[in-house]
Amino acid sequence: MAREENTAKTRPQVLMCSPEHYGIHYEINPWMNRARQADHALAVQQWKALRTSLTEADAEIRLLDPVAGLPDLVFTANAALIYRGMAVLARFRHSQRQGEEPHDAAWLSRAGFDVQQLPDGMYFEGAGDALFCGETLFAGYRIRSAALGHQQIGEMLGVRVIPLELVDDYYYHLDTCFCPLSPGEAIWFPGAFDDYGQQVVRELVGNLIAVDEAEARQFACNAVVVGRTVVTNIGCPKLHAALRSAGYEPRETPLGEFVKAGGSAKCLTLRLDGEEAAAWKHQPASTAATP
Ligand code: ARG
Repeated sequence: MAREENTAKTRPQVLMCSPEHYGIHYEINPWMNRARQADHALAVQQWKALRTSLTEADAEIRLLDPVAGLPDLVFTANAALIYRGMAVLARFRHSQRQGEEPHDAAWLSRAGFDVQQLPDGMYFEGAGDALFCGETLFAGYRIRSAALGHQQIGEMLGVRVIPLELVDDYYYHLDTCFCPLSPGEAIWFPGAFDDYGQQVVRELVGNLIAVDEAEARQFACNAVVVGRTVVTNIGCPKLHAALRSAGYEPRETPLGEFVKAGGSAKCLTLRLDGEEAAAWKHQPASTAATP
């Protein structure tokens, strides 16, 4: 019994939000087109299949209540950046998503996180733009999050931040073109970064799996990593082969209805207990106050 309790506590925790109110109601990235509406029933089916595949990978799914008028609330990756017991809340660039902030804040503080807010006007889109690989926080900026906000987060958390400029509007969040797998190992689409950013990533991440443009367009980089399981949208066979050779177990699940909004597997999730690649996740509880 004690053993079971212990196992239950250490299951990976993932926040999701059901797509009851999801749809393409505005256009804030090049993927979105109100004339190309999401099929509601299919979106629900795809979301449930993603949830099932994460549950099969032994993740525990926690749920944020959907809210009418906030169609992108399903993309929980953007709610906050989680670091130990702290949640640095998003400040969305677009007014259409700003209404999500109080709902995210309320859920996270009820869950026991110390919710931190950045100053007004300092745009930051949570784990969509800030990903740990080992000790380092890689942070995408310009299209959504602001470089200044990243500096402030680095100071708040006491971590090294590497800002990476995103240069292609199709890859407007860092999690659309970069996915840490473990400390020193990541999936990426080099074309989303400028030459300098590419050089920095190559210098800092020893093992890189590059995806080609066709698979990047299928959101290959927008993967959810749970242990050795890596879940992506369908249509990424080359990435899956590379992951298998690197010792991972890739799984695919169709997420086309969410690609219409510019999101896929990773965007639909927020890891609450630390990403697999985040060094702090593996540190002892005495230095990591987790709620
Ligand atoms: N329509 C949403 C937006 O443009 C999609 C967010 C995708 N989330 C992500 N983490 N990449 O903001």
